Amino acid sequence: MHAVVCNEFGPLDTLVVEERPAPVPGEGMVVIDVAAAGVNFVDGLICQGRYQLKPTTPFVPGSEVAGTVSAVGPGVDAWSVGDRVLVFCGFGGFAGQVMAPALSLVAVPDAIDLAQAAALIQSYCTMLFTLTRRTSVAPDEWVLVLGAGGGIGLAAVDVATALGARVIAAASTPDKLEAAVAMGAAATIAYEHEDLKTRARELSGGGVDVVVDPVGGRHAEPALRATRHLGRYCVIGFASGPIPSIPINQVLLNNRTLVGVDWGGWTFKDPLGNRALIEELMGMVADGRLHPTAPATRPLAEAAAVMEALIDRSVAGKVVLVP
Ligand SMILES: NC(=O)c1ccc[n+]([C@@H]2O[C@H](COP(=O)([O-])OP(=O)(O)OC[C@H]3O[C@@H](n4cnc5c(N)ncnc54)[C@H](OP(=O)(O)O)[C@@H]3O)[C@@H](O)[C@H]2O)c1
Repeated sequence: MHAVVCNEFGPLDTLVVEERPAPVPGEGMVVIDVAAAGVNFVDGLICQGRYQLKPTTPFVPGSEVAGTVSAVGPGVDAWSVGDRVLVFCGFGGFAGQVMAPALSLVAVPDAIDLAQAAALIQSYCTMLFTLTRRTSVAPDEWVLVLGAGGGIGLAAVDVATALGARVIAAASTPDKLEAAVAMGAAATIAYEHEDLKTRARELSGGGVDVVVDPVGGRHAEPALRATRHLGRYCVIGFASGPIPSIPINQVLLNNRTLVGVDWGGWTFKDPLGNRALIEELMGMVADGRLHPTAPATRPLAEAAAVMEALIDRSVAGKVVLVP
C-alpha cells in the first residue's frame, strides 16, 4: 500500500510517499481500506516536531480516517469485511490501509459519505465535546467563534447553531466569514479590521455567553472581555502561535469561567465515552441536525501541500486525502 512517511521531523516538503507492506490484523484488531483521511492543523505541527505529541520516526501521519473493513483479526465478532467505519487512529491514517483496535471503530450510516465522515472526526467531536460535555449552551445564548472559517471553527458554528444558540463568527477573510454564514452564523466580525470586544458586545446586545477559541494570541483577551455575566470561555487551541496570558481578574469579573478542552486526551481516558460521542455525532449528521460541508479531496501525494496550506491560513473548511 502507499503511505505518506515522515522519516524525521522537519520541513513538510521532506515527507515522502512510500510503498509499505499491508498490515495484518492481530488479536482484536481490524484493517480498514482507507476511503479518505481528514487533514488537521495539528498534523503539520506533528510532522515538524512542533507538537506536544512526538511519535518515534519514521511514522505515517494522519489521525482520522473512514473506509471499509478489509480484514478482521482473531476474536473480532463485531465487524465484518465490507463494513463502513470511521476511526480516530492517532497516526497511520495517510495510507491506503490502517490497522486499529476493533473497539475503537464506529459504524458510518449509509446516509453519510465516507469522505464526509473522515473530515468530521476531530473538528466535530471536539466541538460536540466542548459544547455538551465541557460546558453547555442554552437556546438563544450568544456564542462567539474565533477562526470561524477553519475546521474547528465551522464545526463550532454548526454545533452551536444546532443547539439553538445564535453565533457570531469572527475570521480574517470574506470567504471564511461567508463559509461561516452559510453554516448558520447570525453575524460576523472581520477581526483583523474590527474591534472584536466592542463589536461582539454590540451584536449580542451586551456580551456573549460563550467564546470558542481555537486561535489564541492577541484575540483571546478581547474575546474574554466580550463575555457577559456567567460567560464561558473555551480554550481550544493556539493556531496563531502565541499562547495568550490573560489578566485573571477578567475571570473574576462577571463570574466568568475558563473552560479547558482536550478532546484528544479525553479519548484515551474515556474511550467508551468518546465512542458514544461519535455515535451521537453520526446520528446528528444522519438526521440533518448538523450540516457539515463536503470536504475538498486531494491525493496522498499532496499531503504536505495541504498541511502547508493549513499552516499558511489559506484553507476555508476541511480537506481530506484520498489514497
Ligand atoms: N483542544 C482540542 O481538543 C483540540 C482538538 C482539535 C484541534 N485543536 C486545535 O484547534 C486549533 C485549530 O485547528 P483547526 O483544525 O480548526 O485548524 P484550521 O482549520 O487551520 O483553522 C485554524 C484557524 O486559525 C486561524 N488563525 C489565526 N492565525 C493563524 C495563524 N498564524 N496560522 C494558522 N491559523 C491561524 C485561521 O483563521 P483566520 O484566518 O480566520 O484567523 C484558521 O482558519 C489548532 O491549534 C488545533 O491544535 C484542539
